[in-house]
Amino acid sequence: MTALAASHPIAVIGAGTMGAGIVQVAATAGHEVYLFDTAADAIDRGIAQIEKITARSVEKGRLDAATRDEILGRIHRATALEDLAPAKLVIEAIVENLDIKRSVFGKLEDILAEDAILASNTSSISITEIAATLKRPERMVGMHFFNPAPIMKLVEIIKGLATDAEVAETTFDTAVAWGKKAVHAKSTPGFIVNRVARPFYAEALRILQEGGADIPTIDGCLREAGGFRMGPFELMDLIGNDINFSVTQSVYNAYYQDSRYRPSLIQQEQVAAGRFGRKSGQGYYDYREGAAPVAP
Ligand code: NAI
Repeated sequence: MTALAASHPIAVIGAGTMGAGIVQVAATAGHEVYLFDTAADAIDRGIAQIEKITARSVEKGRLDAATRDEILGRIHRATALEDLAPAKLVIEAIVENLDIKRSVFGKLEDILAEDAILASNTSSISITEIAATLKRPERMVGMHFFNPAPIMKLVEIIKGLATDAEVAETTFDTAVAWGKKAVHAKSTPGFIVNRVARPFYAEALRILQEGGADIPTIDGCLREAGGFRMGPFELMDLIGNDINFSVTQSVYNAYYQDSRYRPSLIQQEQVAAGRFGRKSGQGYYDYREGAAPVAP
């Protein structure tokens, strides 16, 4: 099986942090891309983000202006799920919630062509479980990008119990055609990276709760001595504390409340306060205008 040709339209559902990035990746690879979100202003923000990032690439000489115009010209606003009908691959990047994801895919089944691939960018929810209520669960697969999607190379391709091998291969090859490093994984809680990363966040939060060190010190140590690009708190603020908290809860519950994955009360408080990180202007650091500079 080969990658989907650039002539095949792609659809992305959810225009937030991940959806907008995935749209940029697919449009850059030459596909017509339809973007749907239940919040119309989220689509505007998502497209504005792509315009800003690609404008910066032109300024820095990494992209020519004509190519940028072509990329932006391939991105289309969808006002209803029905507008996604021409898509051969739909990538869902909405809230990390099983019931909502199932409901969206259930509606899509009746809208898309029989051979269209249904992919979820979920960080932690079982692909087997999302697919279980579909009429044709074999065409559902996980296509898990990392944040920021246009920059991060890795894409985990997740096979649920029912996923057709050809569907997984086509999705894998398509990610590779988009310039990504794709890996196969089975549908286990958190897959590969999010599973291994759980203790990275959890132990940092425990040190903070015990008063062992403050946030910039913990982040600085991991960056300077651990060789990580970002410390755990910087990374949680980039990912979004709401999303990160949902992922931890999902992995914790999937492993029958194994204490290794227990969610942090500090993170729960951040989410309750709406301090989601960069996207809300405040998280472990303050990103609002005029605030003290955020850790390097
Ligand atoms: P986000 O909160 O930035 O954006 C989610 C978007 O989905 C919002 O614009 C919202 O209006 C929209 N939405 C919610 N329900 C919808 C529905 N029923 N139909 C259409 N649109 C709907 O979330 P983010 O961070 O982009 O995450 C999305 C998904 O990607 C989640 O499953 C998350 O676990 C996963 N993910 C997140 C990563 C991250 O670093 N933030 C990394 C990799 C995966």
